[in-house]
Amino acid sequence: MIKNQIGIIGLSTMGKNLALNIASHNFKVAGYNRTYAVTKDMMNEEYNNFIGYADLKEFIDSLEKPRKILLMVKAGQAIDDLCNQLAEYLDTGDIIMDGGNSYFKDTIRRNEYLKEKRINYLGIGISGGEKGARLGPSIMPGGDKDVYNEVKVFLESIAAKKNGEPCCTYIGPDGAGHYVKMVHNGIEYADMQLLVESYLLLKKIGRYTNSEMALIFESWNQSELKSYLVEITAKILREKDELRDGELIDYIIDKASQKGTGKWTSKETLDQDQNTSLIGAAVLARVTSNFDELRNTYQMLFDEPMTKEVNPYVFQEEVRKAYQLGKIVAYAQGFALMKDASKRYNWNLDLGKIASIFRAGCIIQAEFLQVIMKSYNEDKNLENLLLDEEIIRVIRRNIQSLRVVSSLAIRGGVPSPVFVSAITYLDQLRSKHVGANLIQAQRDFFGAHTFERIDQEGINHHEWNE
Ligand code: 6PG
Repeated sequence: MIKNQIGIIGLSTMGKNLALNIASHNFKVAGYNRTYAVTKDMMNEEYNNFIGYADLKEFIDSLEKPRKILLMVKAGQAIDDLCNQLAEYLDTGDIIMDGGNSYFKDTIRRNEYLKEKRINYLGIGISGGEKGARLGPSIMPGGDKDVYNEVKVFLESIAAKKNGEPCCTYIGPDGAGHYVKMVHNGIEYADMQLLVESYLLLKKIGRYTNSEMALIFESWNQSELKSYLVEITAKILREKDELRDGELIDYIIDKASQKGTGKWTSKETLDQDQNTSLIGAAVLARVTSNFDELRNTYQMLFDEPMTKEVNPYVFQEEVRKAYQLGKIVAYAQGFALMKDASKRYNWNLDLGKIASIFRAGCIIQAEFLQVIMKSYNEDKNLENLLLDEEIIRVIRRNIQSLRVVSSLAIRGGVPSPVFVSAITYLDQLRSKHVGANLIQAQRDFFGAHTFERIDQEGINHHEWNE
């Protein structure tokens, strides 16, 4: 009997669509889902090259060796449980792949655990949502390179293509793939929030309607700002409500959810002594949106500040430039975080390649990634994207708009934490004096923590006069 070439465990939205994507590339796919009804529904559809199994053992026996099994189940305990269960049935050299949003340190741990059992493990970041999974996601595989080479043909065939190149590349050892996916999501949070702030500012200060804003975002999408998130934002603002007059956006409750990858990025940033302030601000904006009672009370206690009259056309252009620069800062911080992780974990990340596989398939796909890719390809050791010549030119062109938009937001009481974080970060980098001398003096004052002087080498302590 002809064996299946790859197996997928977990057939809900992402798993199902990936299974169909692989099957449509003429690979024989086996599927298994804990609840058989889901598998049965898929079987009823009679997809080519796909066979669903009710029994895990039968599913495993149907696979050619070395077996290749992709887990598309909820990150966390379920992955550990499955790894344990599968380890009982699998043979030396078989490969388990985790395609969910797993925490990269869990992936490092699972990789070590399964290595002891001579089972191979890959942690694979997959981005693109339902449509991406079916038609071509961006894929970030981490683990041993020779193990990757055994599954490369599947992953590269199903990945999105940009100029004929697959948006899938070997990222690095153990947890590297999931780490990069985590930072991808962190950038996704920051970019989404920058669009949220642009929308709020255009609405409250520019006094634009939803359909006018849709036009504005559409025009951005015709420029170097072209991106998936800008495109869907325009579409969202146009969407009519099915129950009432007007657009659906105005009937959606003003509270954001999250599943944790942005928070992980922020925690890792602190542990690595790096700065991803825009991602952090975006995570906290989602958190704060859920402070129902406090928000309600404050809405009653305080009036909205009067917004300054602006020329809407001029303002619209300022917001566009502020968004462009905010986005640059968000990506620069995210890529700097990956660069640091690469050294810290010996992953040897190729940031140019990573930018290249973000160009299609994933949620943060954007024209701008071309610039990032070029700048890392020209200089593999580039310390920070903010030092790239082309990016410096954009900063010079747009910084005043970012400053104006941030100050109008503050004066008009329009919460814009990510715009404000962006200009603050640039100011911190640019300022000759950031006040850290006073921090050092205070630390020395109350705890004799010592300080360094500008005019001589060495460590000093002063007997401060209490
Ligand atoms: C992707 C997305 C995806 C993520 C959603 C929701 O790259 O396809 O990042 O992995 O699950 O965007 O994430 P939150 O629930 O945290 O917003």
